[in-house]
Amino acid sequence: MEILFSSLALVSAVILHLGLFAESISVYQATDTGPVGAGDDNVILNPRFEDGLNNWSGKGCKIELHESMEDGKIFPQSGKFFASATNRTEIWNGIEQDITGRVQRKVAYQVTAVVRIHVDNVTSAGVQITLWLQEPDFREQYIAIANSQVTDKDWVQLQGEFLLNGFPSRLVIYLEGPSPGTDILVNSLVVKRAEKIPASARPISKNATFGGNIIENSYLDDGTTGWFPLGNCALSVGTGSPHVLPPMARDSLGTYESLSGRYIIVTNRSDSWMGPAQMITDKLKLYLTYQVSAWVRIGPGATGPQIVNVALSVDSQWINGGEVEFNDDKWHEIGGSFRIEKQPSNVMVYVQGPASGVDLLVSGLQIFPVNRQVRFKYLKKQIDKIRKRDIILKFSRLESSNTVRNSVKV
Ligand SMILES: *[C@@H]1O[C@H](CO)[C@@H](O)[C@H](O)[C@H]1NC(C)=O
Ligand SMILES: *[C@@H]1O[C@H](CO)[C@@H](O)[C@H](O)[C@H]1NC(C)=O
Ligand SMILES: *[C@@H]1O[C@H](CO)[C@@H](O)[C@H](O)[C@H]1NC(C)=O
Ligand SMILES: *[C@@H]1O[C@H](CO)[C@@H](O)[C@H](O)[C@H]1NC(C)=O
Ligand SMILES: *[C@@H]1O[C@H](CO)[C@@H](O)[C@H](O)[C@H]1NC(C)=O
Repeated sequence: MEILFSSLALVSAVILHLGLFAESISVYQATDTGPVGAGDDNVILNPRFEDGLNNWSGKGCKIELHESMEDGKIFPQSGKFFASATNRTEIWNGIEQDITGRVQRKVAYQVTAVVRIHVDNVTSAGVQITLWLQEPDFREQYIAIANSQVTDKDWVQLQGEFLLNGFPSRLVIYLEGPSPGTDILVNSLVVKRAEKIPASARPISKNATFGGNIIENSYLDDGTTGWFPLGNCALSVGTGSPHVLPPMARDSLGTYESLSGRYIIVTNRSDSWMGPAQMITDKLKLYLTYQVSAWVRIGPGATGPQIVNVALSVDSQWINGGEVEFNDDKWHEIGGSFRIEKQPSNVMVYVQGPASGVDLLVSGLQIFPVNRQVRFKYLKKQIDKIRKRDIILKFSRLESSNTVRNSVKV
């Protein structure tokens, strides 16, 4: 397939949703912050900006080095420096590093970034770590490794994993996501081999029951029992949400009960992080991969696309349990997966994201353990399905373009 462009619009970002080259699972590990120790593979050069902006570049925007910002209100979380991607005019603008040749095939890598945003008029925005790869035949792929809502108040850690199956001829990792005008601040971006958990330290119960939902009162049979509002918002129960389980959960669970058709509606949200929450500390088992599933929807009054995100606060760190962005008033599936590898003392799950003033509707939130092998096979099957399917191409325009014809080969 070849698509020819005869307009003046130069293809500056082609997003091929061709296949998940990587299973991105959010992981909470003992090795979360702290300096890079022995065994670091140095995939990222100058990961903490100790060497200025060397080896980094702006992706369509400017980058700057800082010791502090806002008259000393913003300091690095660790080390002496942080970088900013500034003068961003597109959501895909950010800070990037070319890591071609520094990543091995079929090895799982863990990516950890400490980020925040800086802007005048918004308090949070979705930030994503993306891997761009170009194959020898010039096909390109964009892989989302991790994303989360990030605030202008605190540094937030994004974490994900990836594994390459092919032999890309170029590989670039970058941060992107917030709307134009919002600066992305980066304290560090580290890529290292995902640690293999020694079998001895892996108390995986052979008899763990896969599929058992750990959320209390998921179906809202009992009002909002088990749920509490995070922030100064209000929860109530409505009816009319889908009875079918969202497709991703259906594929994992096989047989299932139908949902109740009841949903939690969150009103009086005065900030984007406000939503329904539940403590799940005692229900999580270490080293199991959990899948997250829910239907979500927003009320009227949104002025643009809204992100809805299932977030886990694990001892005050954020882990992404799945995210969806939409611009209508329909029900959307949200799905993700995560794993905890270090005993936490506090885990809260909550649903958040839409702008303040926009009501949030959540139905059938479930979190259940899945068998990683089975899930991996499933993902591979999905990739094959997607390969045979139509491809979505997203083009954004580069302003100063005088190119008349461009082509994309798939
Ligand atoms: C990283 O930056 C240093 C300092 O500018 C430079 O000497 C080195 O060649 C760079 N490495 C790569 C792989 O670009
Ligand atoms: C970046 O934006 C700032 C503030 O809007 C402006 O003063 C500056 O000239 C811009 N820099 C570049 C290189 O565009
Ligand atoms: C924030 O301000 C910028 C520039 O003034 C504007 O383009 C943007 O739409 C504003 N965003 C919001 C959420 O108000
Ligand atoms: C597995 O089940 C057995 C019997 O029900 C129980 O004694 C054991 O503690 C379980 N193992 C784990 C790791 O939960
Ligand atoms: C929601 O906000 C409105 C207007 O600010 C207020 O009148 C109402 O009491 C609030 N409702 C709840 C349940 O807090």
